[in-house]
Amino acid sequence: MKINRYEDISQIDREAKRDYIDRHSAFVSCDAQAVKGEKFKVKVKIGDEYKHPDDFDHYISWIQLWDGERMLTEASFIAGAQGGAPSQVEVDFYIVPTKSLKLSALAYCTKHGLWQSDEKTVQVEG
Ligand SMILES: [Fe+2]
Repeated sequence: MKINRYEDISQIDREAKRDYIDRHSAFVSCDAQAVKGEKFKVKVKIGDEYKHPDDFDHYISWIQLWDGERMLTEASFIAGAQGGAPSQVEVDFYIVPTKSLKLSALAYCTKHGLWQSDEKTVQVEG
């Protein structure tokens, strides 16, 4: 299956394409540093400026959090979990790192497939 990668939408001219890319893209936010053995919060949000539909046949079905090539955790949704209205699906994951991380998120839209975030490096100390 094709994996769509995030593109910087400020470089894209067509409004419809900016909307399409942004509303499917996963954004990982967390601190740049973590303490070994301590709980660490990682937020994943789908869409930065635009909202994705939550229709019965078109919705964000799941979000996974990866460290390099290792899947750490995932969250899944049914159609209607966002109230049946456009939204930016959001999950707060908590992990306990033991070594530095290269985090990325993968999201799945039931109509438009897989979308992978940029990678975010977290230094783990202690
Ligand atoms: Fe979609």
